[in-house]
Amino acid sequence: MSDRYAVVGNPVGHSKSPQIHAAFARQTGQDISYDRLLAPLDSFEATVRRFFHEGGHGLNVTVPFKREAWDLVDHCEGGALSAEAVNTIKRSGNQLIGYNTDGVGLLADLEHNLGAAIAGKRVLLMGAGGASYGVLQPLLERRPDLLVVVNRTLDKAERLIRHFHQYESLTLRGIAAQPYALLAGQSFDLVINATSAGLEGEMPQLPDGLFAQGAIAYDMVYGRETQFLGFARARGATCADGLGMLVEQAAESFFIWRGVRPRTAPVIAQLRSEH
Ligand code: ATR
Repeated sequence: MSDRYAVVGNPVGHSKSPQIHAAFARQTGQDISYDRLLAPLDSFEATVRRFFHEGGHGLNVTVPFKREAWDLVDHCEGGALSAEAVNTIKRSGNQLIGYNTDGVGLLADLEHNLGAAIAGKRVLLMGAGGASYGVLQPLLERRPDLLVVVNRTLDKAERLIRHFHQYESLTLRGIAAQPYALLAGQSFDLVINATSAGLEGEMPQLPDGLFAQGAIAYDMVYGRETQFLGFARARGATCADGLGMLVEQAAESFFIWRGVRPRTAPVIAQLRSEH
């Protein structure tokens, strides 16, 4: 019987993970099955424990359970510790190990697929929810010039940068939390939208001069041209949605489980062609 994997969430019907992992498995000749697992909102833990009790090998975790997964696992590796969120679980003997591959996925997409270098650059991260917690550590480890977190609710941005305070010395000019109103007059080389505004067809108020010459605008939302990307494109920025990050974080999960690194470019191209 094939080794069993799944993505667990609520809702989970829209997830592209089964398609992505099936493509990875075909490409690398790995014998796995990968399903969707709908967990009732009040019984995530029971759903996960049953899956592993019945012989499951690994899970991806999606909304709204990444934080509960962090609480549930026996041990965290890598970025999961600081992100306080787990999107990948691997069974190792009778232990459940938690990982967070979102940050690695974002960085792989930025660096390998988009050719972006972060060292010495001015980075703006929009949003201070779970998506931002997942990516801040690997961003700071690339040693940007400065990293500004901007959020509608300022104290959430302040809490976020306090949480990652130990990495501040990796930057040249530090980490700052700001409200959107303070962005006027500042410009950035990389602007990452980690808010959920695009899902509601909205975007935060941004000033015209936000994008430096040659800037990259990245929206973690995928599968649609968000207002943010439209705004950035009209102001000369190079634009990317989160589809590459989605596939790259999946590739990192696949590597954690199987020890084999799949090629991502053909899978990204396949998903793009279906839109
Ligand atoms: P998650 O944990 O999934 O990232 P979240 O904690 O609800 O979800 O965070 C969503 C982020 O998007 C927050 O930073 C939120 O800003 P607030 O903290 O001020 O609520 C941001 N966000 C959502 N809709 C937005 C909008 N229309 N404009 C600006 N920011 C928005």
